[in-house]
Amino acid sequence: MSQINYISEDKIEEQLALCSELIPLIRARSETDAPLAFVDTYGCQQNESDSEQIRGFLSLMGCGFTTDEFLADIIVINTCAVREHAEMRILGNVGALNHTKKAKKGQIIAVCGCMVRQEHMEEKLKKSYPIVDIVFGPDEVWRFPELIMRLVKGRKRVFEVTRLDGSLFENLPRRRDSKLKAWLSIMYGCNNFCTYCIVPYTRGRERSRKPEDILMEAKELIASGARDITLLGQNVNSYGKDLGIDYDFADLIKDINALEGDFIIRFMTSHPKDAGEKLFKTMAECSKAAHHIHLPVQAGNNRVLKAMNRHYTREEYLEKVRLAREYMPDLVITTDIIVGFPGETPEEFEDTLSLVNEVRYDSMFTFIYSPRVGTKAAAMPDPLSRAEKQILCDKLTDAANTIPKEKHAEYVGRTVRVLVDGVNEGEEYNLSSRTKEGRLVHLKGCPEMVGSFAEVKITSSTTWALFGEISGQ
Ligand code: SAH
Ligand code: SF4
Ligand code: F3S
Repeated sequence: MSQINYISEDKIEEQLALCSELIPLIRARSETDAPLAFVDTYGCQQNESDSEQIRGFLSLMGCGFTTDEFLADIIVINTCAVREHAEMRILGNVGALNHTKKAKKGQIIAVCGCMVRQEHMEEKLKKSYPIVDIVFGPDEVWRFPELIMRLVKGRKRVFEVTRLDGSLFENLPRRRDSKLKAWLSIMYGCNNFCTYCIVPYTRGRERSRKPEDILMEAKELIASGARDITLLGQNVNSYGKDLGIDYDFADLIKDINALEGDFIIRFMTSHPKDAGEKLFKTMAECSKAAHHIHLPVQAGNNRVLKAMNRHYTREEYLEKVRLAREYMPDLVITTDIIVGFPGETPEEFEDTLSLVNEVRYDSMFTFIYSPRVGTKAAAMPDPLSRAEKQILCDKLTDAANTIPKEKHAEYVGRTVRVLVDGVNEGEEYNLSSRTKEGRLVHLKGCPEMVGSFAEVKITSSTTWALFGEISGQ
């Protein structure tokens, strides 16, 4: 039976009330009228989105923000567990806070997110990192104020990591990083249990937000100036399956597309097994949907795909790519690939390389396999050495760079519509922008253009970006 923890509005109200009570307590502890907080985020967009909610609470507690650990009265480290490298970096950075805590009396250090949802990591923080005051899992974000209150009043370390199937909550305060670009979580968790992956253990089971809550948030975002909205979920194509209504991800895209305003709809991530014709057709028909799909293939060999528990074959994947491109000839396709899955042979890896050359991805993220505690793959024999895997990975990186370079070159001379989203301080091409499909375009123009759409003539390109001039000016 599912153990999803649905959080009522009243419970959220209680947390908001605690924020007000905390204002004088945090001030007193900080010995200043303007306490500062630093929220440091690792991992994926889901974590970025959670950090925006943590910042929302901190704002209500009267905190301003800094990125200087020595100035911060409250430090929150929002962690990722997807690969060992990420965990090592995080533990190193937490350890380094010894200095800041010595220098700043009363500093509160909290560690949250996916890494601490693993029991061995929670234990490690408890035993070996006494400077850490609060530890809470991804399902406790909604009660962050209560945890701070418990620490401030009780003066004892607070460890609060539940290991149920996940919580679902609405209406948390949120301090967004950008007005223009917005994350919009549509669902949480993952049911897929790919054999290498820790996410189903750290993020719990799939749970979808109600369409009306998502549409309301989308409307508010558009009204407050968002022009680029990314719908987030570990596997957005499963959206709605748990709601018990006849409504899926494509229906949601259609409904968001129908909202008034000039904006772009993106989404992350699609599992290839659930991406199908209805989604491609909807993307093609909805004028605001970006023609971009991040479709992680992970490997190109059928034996490896099966061992990974991915539920598709190389042939099925290629057929989906073909179909998607039939609906959207301008589709940008990106992917993730794992090199050196346990037991993958160099011959099997050649199948990944040939698939990459066949699909011609616009960009790809390649990762060397990292064993994760408690996953099935971690118990599989893994004879290839790290050095051997690195050689394979380098081959893939070469392919990863050549293809986009060629694709970008084809743009020179064409005019594209972009959303100007930032300033490149001190650069000749002083503005950055993205096409609807997500291609990066550097251009020359006045900074006031940030936040508006523009037509740009592409004049040159590299592997990573296009360069252009405003057209017709
Ligand atoms: N939910 C998303 C991605 C989650 S993690 C999806 O299914 O696509 C992002 C990427 O990290 C994965 O696509 C995978 O390529 C990589 N990854 C996950 N676990 C890994 C591991 N144990 N070692 C190396 N890479 C891993
Ligand atoms: Fe991990 Fe697979 Fe779920 Fe993605 S779909 S989060 S790779 S288990
Ligand atoms: Fe990392 Fe958790 Fe995201 S493990 S990739 S932060 S879901």
